[in-house]
Amino acid sequence: MSAVLRTAVTGVGSYLPDQVLTNQDLAKIVDTSDEWIFERTGIHERRQAAPDQAVSDLAVEAARKALAAAGRTAEDLDLIIVATTTPDLTFPATAAIVQRKLGAPMGIAFDVQAVCSGFVYALSIADGFIARGNAKCGLIIGAETMTRILDWTDRSTCVLFGDGAGAVVVEPAMGQGTTADRGILSFVLRCEGEKQDLLYVDGGVSTTGQIGKLRMQGHQVFRHAVINIAEAIEAAADKAGVDLSEVDWFVPHQANQRILKGVADRLGIDEARVVSTVAKHANTSAASIPLAMDVAIRDGRIKPGQLVLLEAMGGGLTWGACLLRL
Ligand code: UT7
Repeated sequence: MSAVLRTAVTGVGSYLPDQVLTNQDLAKIVDTSDEWIFERTGIHERRQAAPDQAVSDLAVEAARKALAAAGRTAEDLDLIIVATTTPDLTFPATAAIVQRKLGAPMGIAFDVQAVCSGFVYALSIADGFIARGNAKCGLIIGAETMTRILDWTDRSTCVLFGDGAGAVVVEPAMGQGTTADRGILSFVLRCEGEKQDLLYVDGGVSTTGQIGKLRMQGHQVFRHAVINIAEAIEAAADKAGVDLSEVDWFVPHQANQRILKGVADRLGIDEARVVSTVAKHANTSAASIPLAMDVAIRDGRIKPGQLVLLEAMGGGLTWGACLLRL
């Protein structure tokens, strides 16, 4: 055991746009039903950003709440990472726009594109800056306007996604090199580009010149999800030297209640320890984990000092897991 600098999450915040889209609302647009959507996914409703709301607007709202929760101000920030697959503009990075809108000082700011796994990727990257002493106060945001890239004639995808943002403030914390330390204990990141056709957007800057629409072979993605996520979680637990029975809260990416349950069952994680917001948020891609974390912290479930397990999987295919003590 020796002293080690860790990356601690010191504040969490989130934001959901006002507009609620229920399953019944979607049944008026495509051939679907509340029963089908709820039974297959666990989703009841999702949020949709207003036409004049950019993803940076959602990100800034979540960021302000996270800063307040951490007792910090924008002035303190020297690192901003935004995980998003639906940026305001092709460039500059949404993180640079967030920096300007928050009035944060000059510092490091960039975006991460790992789709639904973006938040786990971004947090792991932040760990490199904070735990190596290259940043003192970071803002890690997952923010998405997924409804802007949906094909509203495709019932197999348009019912699954929603808009929102979640943010965490990260700061250095000195630990003893044990699993009792506060902060990030381990992470595992994966990408299998061979499977990119299972989940992608059919447009882009250097190909079609158009934004494109989300395409997914849902059933195939589902099959990979449970196996891959479970493997990454076990690898992250191994790396940290943690037994999964020690985990207080499992905060998964919120794609489908059946995936959440499948992973929890496979790993013997009690459902009572799983934070699920999929019913109300649907799949908000990179925003879903910090959104769910914020809900469970604010309602008193997740408490300081507890061991939290994050996992995600998305386009790429990308996936990963992260263990941290709050
Ligand atoms: O965050 C990124 C990762 N993404 C995910 O994790 C998503 C993973 N996939 C899923 O969550 C599920 O595969 C879905 C919810 C997308 C679909 O559930 P499924 O049990 O895999 O259904 P399926 O795709 O095998 O489709 C079953 C049937 C099909 O009809 P037929 O061919 O059996 O006649 C679909 O056409 O359900 C039909 N269907 C619908 N019916 C009513 C597909 N979408 C709908 C719909 N409403 N919205």
